[in-house]
Amino acid sequence: MEQLKIRHILGLRDMSAEEIGFILDTAESLKPILHRHIKKVPPLRGRTIVTLFFEPSTRTKLSFELAAKRLSADTVGISKSMSSVVKGETLIDTTRNIQAMKPDIIVMRHSMAGAPHLIARHVDCSVINAGDGINEHPSQALLDMLTIRDHFGSLKGLKVAIIGDITHSRVAHSNIIGLQKMGARVAVCGPGTMLPPGLAAEGVEVMMRVEEAIEDADVIMALRIQRERQGLPLFPSQREYARKFGINNRRLRAAKENAIIMHPGPINRGVELAPDVADSGRSLILDQVTNGVAVRMALFSLLIAESGDERSPDMERQV
Ligand code: NCD
Repeated sequence: MEQLKIRHILGLRDMSAEEIGFILDTAESLKPILHRHIKKVPPLRGRTIVTLFFEPSTRTKLSFELAAKRLSADTVGISKSMSSVVKGETLIDTTRNIQAMKPDIIVMRHSMAGAPHLIARHVDCSVINAGDGINEHPSQALLDMLTIRDHFGSLKGLKVAIIGDITHSRVAHSNIIGLQKMGARVAVCGPGTMLPPGLAAEGVEVMMRVEEAIEDADVIMALRIQRERQGLPLFPSQREYARKFGINNRRLRAAKENAIIMHPGPINRGVELAPDVADSGRSLILDQVTNGVAVRMALFSLLIAESGDERSPDMERQV
């Protein structure tokens, strides 16, 4: 594959295994740039990337912005409280106005599932979904897959156990789709109130006990309880959750010795992950963050290459 055929990155559901592999390979080739003293290359010089974050974000927003800057693109961004959405403007009107300023890519996070898909129908530029409600978070799953692939060499045949609030986690949804496409086995575990129906029919192993889920897993991915997306509490207390589903060293005795720990962040220490597990040598949580920049650089360069303009000689050299 020489070029990505899709114009937007809205979810891994729309992507083939070949496309996912191509993005991961591109990210891999861009990673060395992040370890140089001067972390900037010219391929996206003169390009404009707009970030619209209508929900809180630390890692994802910074990661997209740094990725754009590493490739020399200009970035501008607004958050919900600073945008005219609070003055009653519709999302479509806001995006049409942004489009009128001719950006090349819009990166959007929104609490409403489908919001990036909606704006993609109203703009000429590419749209990247940086998390839409409980639906998908494709760049997070891509960086998770890059981290796992880097560590084990391949995703094929691995078992990934995802523990936590599966129903409300867009990270879980994108990972389930992506990992299965790439030939990994996925097991999930969490309180019964946070396990959506229908997973077993999609080939996901659904476990009620954490020990069972992590038993022969190569990867243990813990997730935060998405309380902001839940109505009434879905379990009695954080302490109760930690006792039944928290990943601690005692529980890890059931796991393979070389199993790795992952978490998309932000971590609620002592709830889904014991602090000593989060900080242990088997935790790849900060590698995920570093890989996030490489994955987002790959998405930007591939989307801009796809947008039809000639690849610049700089791009040929750097990508
Ligand atoms: C996740 C998100 O926003 O969906 N975080 C992230 O992007 N790194 C997970 C979460 O908020 O728990």
